[in-house]
Amino acid sequence: MQRGQFSSTFTFVLAAAGSAVGLGNIWGFPTNAAENGGAGFLLMYLILAFLLAYPALMAELIIGRHTRANMVMALDSIATRQSAKKLGRLTGYAGMVTASLILSFYAIVAGWMLGSMAEPVASFFGFEALGAWLTAFGTARNIILTSLFMLLTGLIINAGVEQGIEKWSRRLMPSLLILLIALIAYVLTREGATDGLRHYLVPDFSQMTNPDLIVSALGQAFFSMSLGVGTMLIYGSYIRSDANLPMVGSLVTLADTGIAFLAGLLVLPAMFVAQNLGVAIYGDDGSLIGGPNLIFQVLPTLFESMGGVGFLVGFAFFVLMSIAAVTSSISLLEVPVSYAVENHNMSRKRATLWLSSAIFALSVAICLNFDALFDAVISLTTEWAQPLISMLICLFAGWVFYRNSILNELKQGNPDIEHSLFWKLWPVYVKFVCPALIGVIIFQGLLF
Ligand code: PHE
Repeated sequence: MQRGQFSSTFTFVLAAAGSAVGLGNIWGFPTNAAENGGAGFLLMYLILAFLLAYPALMAELIIGRHTRANMVMALDSIATRQSAKKLGRLTGYAGMVTASLILSFYAIVAGWMLGSMAEPVASFFGFEALGAWLTAFGTARNIILTSLFMLLTGLIINAGVEQGIEKWSRRLMPSLLILLIALIAYVLTREGATDGLRHYLVPDFSQMTNPDLIVSALGQAFFSMSLGVGTMLIYGSYIRSDANLPMVGSLVTLADTGIAFLAGLLVLPAMFVAQNLGVAIYGDDGSLIGGPNLIFQVLPTLFESMGGVGFLVGFAFFVLMSIAAVTSSISLLEVPVSYAVENHNMSRKRATLWLSSAIFALSVAICLNFDALFDAVISLTTEWAQPLISMLICLFAGWVFYRNSILNELKQGNPDIEHSLFWKLWPVYVKFVCPALIGVIIFQGLLF
């Protein structure tokens, strides 16, 4: 069977960055930062992103490109001993389940983005009641919007790598970046913004040793970089052999952390601006409000305060957010789909139909039991499963995968790699540092 491939390194970077940049950056990161004391969280997140997430991303990209397979087959094929092969397959299955669970809550939040995108249009044409329904929390509205989003995701995945994933990833990043910067420039001119800036940029170091903050920052870093579910591994398997992997990996890391940083620079000041406009941003216990609704409360207030253009800006913002969500959700659905196609000989169409329906059923279960399941699924997948599976992938890269195979793989895109700083540090890193640090953080998170 012919495997799909990205047509150039540049389109690969865009697609991988498209997967990484999504709701995690603009919805997850600012919410987490607001809930965990602002600047302390930002600093811990940045440290963990570069120290742990980048090396783990490299492990996935290298294993993926070397084996040119999905995670189940990839980890199986680099192992020689039967027990390691079995563990590899199990890790692959765990990644697939995690990807599906992530998509089941991701599609709900992405549905909210679709709702917020359609609201200004509905109101503009005089359908005020529809506009209100689209943005007010409700089970029927959640399920309907989620189904629309899953449909969109399924249609793109059905089209495959070049026609689907690549085409959609291409123009998004620049437009998102430009709009974010313009919005930040606007928000900083508004009253109250400096309080937000202080909160976001001046860390309270005493907070940084809080185990909850560290576990949240770890989960956020792995979630935001799409790690530990097989997404980056499968994307790595579609990349051309002459691509310089460490460089590609750093571009993706920089793009992802950069957009998250900018999103915080928009949302935290926007919270304080919103406070000036009458929105309550402190909860009863005196801490900043957070929760899944945060940006849906704060940003529309900001857009409304802009007067007439606010309508257009709000619409553009949520259009871009919806596209950012799609370029991530397709990378999540690709994980189980590529497995079903490659290992079970299913047609792409059938696999997409069945798997997206099954994941949609999970979403419906979450919508129907929102309070019990929504936060629980997020915490289980992003704070525990993703770091743990990433730890296993690092162990495979460090202990199971032959050092020479890795070196030869890297040399294809960078003949001098042997003498680079990357090659001096990374092998030791994935072997000892990453697994140990992830282990310690998870352990202390469990204990305290
Ligand atoms: N990184 C994506 C985001 O930030 C979410 C994601 C997680 C995508 C895991 C793929 C795999 O929105």
